[in-house]
Amino acid sequence: MTDSKTYFSAVADQWDEIRAGYFTEHMRDAAIARVAALHPSPLYPNAVVADVGTGTGFVAMGLAPKAAKVYGFDASPEMLAVARRNLAAFPNVELREAPGDRLPLPDGALDGVFANMYLHHAPDPAAAIREMARLLKPGGVLCLTDLDTHNHEWQREQMADLWLGFDRADIRRWFAEAGLTDIDVDCAEGTCCAAAPDGSVESLSVFVAIGRKVI
Ligand SMILES: C[S@@+](CC[C@H](N)C(=O)[O-])C[C@H]1O[C@@H](n2cnc3c(N)ncnc32)[C@H](O)[C@@H]1O
Repeated sequence: MTDSKTYFSAVADQWDEIRAGYFTEHMRDAAIARVAALHPSPLYPNAVVADVGTGTGFVAMGLAPKAAKVYGFDASPEMLAVARRNLAAFPNVELREAPGDRLPLPDGALDGVFANMYLHHAPDPAAAIREMARLLKPGGVLCLTDLDTHNHEWQREQMADLWLGFDRADIRRWFAEAGLTDIDVDCAEGTCCAAAPDGSVESLSVFVAIGRKVI
């Protein structure tokens, strides 16, 4: 099986194009808008937030105009090199190479944590959620977008996916175990269009999961 670091190192320069075929800005912006509409909202002019598994900075770019500071964390230096170019116009974005299970910020540092299509690469998704929740202040919000359970085995080989999506009940349980409350797991505004090796194009269901750190 292709490992994630090798895969993303190889596709970094093409990722924006690959990503655009898979999921849209609309899906990202709708997820961010859901978080912005919460009361109280963790997105406000002085907010400090993170995008975990930022890759080439897709979610960080959507967050940058809505927060004072955005951290983008990723394990792939090649993906981060592209993110640095993509986000050059946003001085409030700081990109750092970091493994998702050891994010280099203290407990309670952030108002919001976001991750798009990162969780299915995490070796231990429950631990990854705990680590993201650790960074939240009381009242801070975690927002994940990822795939619902699917059966496209080829994605393990071709895309270095460790998990073929997730059962929403597991996501709810992992959020609760990580100390999150007000948990909402709903359909994202859009699907993921995946082109299989046989040339067929599959539409994969995507969820948006939101939870608030217990105050
Ligand atoms: C499918 S890409 C998504 C990138 C970006 N969030 C987007 O929406 O375009 C998954 C990203 O997660 C990163 N990643 C995978 N495993 C990781 C880990 N254990 N720790 C940190 N980043 C990881 C990869 O390097 C890659 O950039």
